[in-house]
Amino acid sequence: FTVLAFSSVAVLGLSACGSGGGNDAGQQSATVLKVAFNQNATHPQAVAITELSEKLKEATDGAYELELFPDEQLGSQAETLELVQSGAVDMAIVAGPLLEAFNPDFSVLNLPYIYDSPEHQMSVLNDPEITGDLYDSLTESEQISVIGAYHGGVRNVYTTDGPVETPADLAGQKIRVISSDTNVSMVGLMGGVGTPMPQGDVYTAIQSGVLNGAENNELIFADLGHSEIAAFYSYTKHLMIPDYLVANPAVLEAFSEDQRADLESLFTESVDSELASFDAKVTEAKKKAEDSGATFHEADVDAFREAVAPLLEEKISNDVTTAIFDKIEAAR
Ligand code: GCU
Repeated sequence: FTVLAFSSVAVLGLSACGSGGGNDAGQQSATVLKVAFNQNATHPQAVAITELSEKLKEATDGAYELELFPDEQLGSQAETLELVQSGAVDMAIVAGPLLEAFNPDFSVLNLPYIYDSPEHQMSVLNDPEITGDLYDSLTESEQISVIGAYHGGVRNVYTTDGPVETPADLAGQKIRVISSDTNVSMVGLMGGVGTPMPQGDVYTAIQSGVLNGAENNELIFADLGHSEIAAFYSYTKHLMIPDYLVANPAVLEAFSEDQRADLESLFTESVDSELASFDAKVTEAKKKAEDSGATFHEADVDAFREAVAPLLEEKISNDVTTAIFDKIEAAR
């Protein structure tokens, strides 16, 4: 109860910070848009948002800037998504699988082994011709505007009891996933037991033995200390998911046409700089994890790719998902 009471008070203070929008000539007061983020302030996406804010402020003559709230200060990603829908928070960065709850067709972008490289992934996700209609499907019905997608790393499996080389090694192992049916089925096909949970709960769950491990990129592995308690990191390379910058639609409607165009082009720039900085962060994270005793292992990627094939068949099943998947293939 105390936690709930505290978070509602915290959230009440958040909306309507900043005012005016700077649209009235001669009355330029900055609108500060709150951006919820669940990872730390040195994460490439945090850096990208800070740069985006500076450039947006300049381009809009001080009318708009962004303020980042990192480290789950405003709640788990699922919670902050609700706050965006209600308008209590202006924007949030949320992992792709969470949007499947609102429109299951989003799953086609979150399937294992469908992208050759982060560059391939990003060329698909921010091409309005490929994803525009899908993204727009949430605006009115769910009060979620998808501004676009950032690269969120390549996900691999890490466990407490030894490296994972083949699907058989995952038998009976409870592996945390981001909440979505697709993820639960995916880990099931990979041989384990997919266990959905917010990221902030994973450390304690591994430590107490509720989980045998998780699947994530090297940044989370090292930065959240998972490397200390589930020290075997195995390169299954099964997944690249997008992280979406989402906004409450009313926030974007308040922008003038020019301001909206500025936001869109500056967002595109920030996507490129985020991607460009990711590799260096991975190298840093691996070093940090190794220093704390973690080890990195190759896995039988072909065996895992084969194991999850039925999931692609199941999820690429209607006109929308088939059309998008064909374009992913064509962009390869
Ligand atoms: C990645 C992703 C985050 C997500 C996290 C998770 O780090 O970038 O958006 O929250 O995985 O597994 O929860």
